[in-house]
Amino acid sequence: MTRIAVIPGDGIGREVVPVALDILEALGLDIEFDVLEQVNADTYLRTGVALSPDDFRRAQGSAAILLGAIGDPRVRDTNYGRGILLRLRFELDLYVNYRPAKLAHERLSPLRDPERRGIDCLIVRENTEGLYAGIGGRLRAETDLEVAIDAEIGTSHGVSRIVDFAFSIARTSVCLVDKSNAVPNNGGLWQRYWRDAQKRHPQLRTCHEYVDAAAMKLVADPTAFDVIVTNNSYGDILSDLASQLAGGIGLACSANINPGSGHGLFEPVHGSAPDIADKGVANPIATILTTALMLDQLSHREPAQAIRNAVYKAIERGRVTRDLGGTLSMKEAAAAIRAEL
Ligand code: NAI
Ligand code: MG
Repeated sequence: MTRIAVIPGDGIGREVVPVALDILEALGLDIEFDVLEQVNADTYLRTGVALSPDDFRRAQGSAAILLGAIGDPRVRDTNYGRGILLRLRFELDLYVNYRPAKLAHERLSPLRDPERRGIDCLIVRENTEGLYAGIGGRLRAETDLEVAIDAEIGTSHGVSRIVDFAFSIARTSVCLVDKSNAVPNNGGLWQRYWRDAQKRHPQLRTCHEYVDAAAMKLVADPTAFDVIVTNNSYGDILSDLASQLAGGIGLACSANINPGSGHGLFEPVHGSAPDIADKGVANPIATILTTALMLDQLSHREPAQAIRNAVYKAIERGRVTRDLGGTLSMKEAAAAIRAEL
């Protein structure tokens, strides 16, 4: 029996995770769910603990972690989100952030030219270093002379393994995105491993773009990209952009994985959406497609593809929530997908 730790979290995470689990249960796989009910903002506000040692152990000991969303307007302190999501990414060394963007249906593209709508790319974001490593500090804090430093960390170990992963998974091409014209030290390190990998994968096309140009080209012609490999912060931003080109945040799924250890944390790209929480209108598809990524990783490839096909069918029929132009509630949209399965 495969055990999956489930963190519904906050806001719409608590709504979309149960409906995604229902769909997984309907597939009759040999999977059990260990729901970590205490990992949320209520607990943090009450106890000051983001992720207890016991909850961390349950997450660490599972075959995969499924996370809804973490975030609550009552919590201003960044230690909460860092203490759960960044802690799991860093301590389980989930160095690949895997963010596919594939247009689910023509009508969901914001682009005018039909030839250029069909985005089907994968953003491979370095997930354990860069600007998000938390290296830095403040000098003379809260004064008019304050100095604030967030250092961008790049290591040979971290950069080489993410670049190698990107080349190992690419179908046709790998595009390296950096800002080496303005951030030369990290840029040089990334380019060195990128050139090494190019030599080992001569069948793949490669390109190199600065992040600003890459953002422009993603909008001008998203079909030009297969795999984009980039650092933590650019990957965060470009994947939100790509998710809009693929139909919006309500569809965007992601995986945080360590291909070596097998640890994985799977989460929709969206947050807890306090503006629509508790209204039963959240789009469950991002979380449902996230469970398909999780099944892929657990080598259940057929059920994973069955879930995707059911989602695309439901979208084609317009059986979707309001953010995709439909009229269904979250539960009705999930039921429509189950009906297609
Ligand atoms: P958000 O992704 O929660 O919401 C952005 C916008 O997209 C909102 O208008 C929301 O209504 C809409 N939206 C998001 N998911 C949707 C869905 N499934 N169906 C329909 N509409 C959807 O981002 P926001 O507002 O910046 O952050 C809210 C909270 O979530 C914050 O506390 C933030 O820190 C946290 N957050 C957590 C993440 C995580 O757990 N991985 C990721 C991003 C934000
Ligand atoms: Mg983000």
